[in-house]
Amino acid sequence: MNKRSLLLSGLLIASGALGAAETQVRYPEGFRSWYHVKSMVIQPGHPLENPFGGIHHVYANAKAMQGLKTGNYPDGAVLVFDLFDYQEDNHALVEGKRKLIGVMERDGKRFAKTGGWGFEGFGEGKPDKRLVTDGGQGCFNCHAAQKDSQYVFSKLRD
Ligand code: HEC
Repeated sequence: MNKRSLLLSGLLIASGALGAAETQVRYPEGFRSWYHVKSMVIQPGHPLENPFGGIHHVYANAKAMQGLKTGNYPDGAVLVFDLFDYQEDNHALVEGKRKLIGVMERDGKRFAKTGGWGFEGFGEGKPDKRLVTDGGQGCFNCHAAQKDSQYVFSKLRD
């Protein structure tokens, strides 16, 4: 391989990697210290049981808070759906293991195909266990019902 083709293949590899990174949702580092929006328990028999059965908490970063308040989400807004198994213990529902986190990342350009939101799941909340294989289309199909609130279900409360 001469110098020129070496350089060329290097560039191709770099641009390929960039392509993947551009359409990938970033792992939401530090989301546990973001704003807690709400929680909910999804029990067996609910239409969302598989895969969202359990106790979940919704978190918003500062830009997502802006969106929740104004209805307009700037690029960089991130929402996290933090889901746990639960056990019943003496008439209490107690958090078990983390099942997954669901993430929505706002970027009108990178995620134009799915309403300007990138959707990803991370098994057990681990950065290397990406769950979404269809570019987020399945997630978006259901979130599409919330078009009037820019595809976000959760609402702010006091
Ligand atoms: C069949 C419907 C459905 C599908 C499919 C779905 N969601 Fe959701 N999602 C919901 C509902 C309903 C809520 C609101 C839960 C609540 O009120 O606590 C929600 C909430 C969320 C939230 C918190 C922000 C918000 O909109 O309230 C995130 C983040 C999220 N989902 C990510 C995902 C990801 C990632 C996928 C795909 C892996 C996905 N969702 C697939 C119904 C769905």
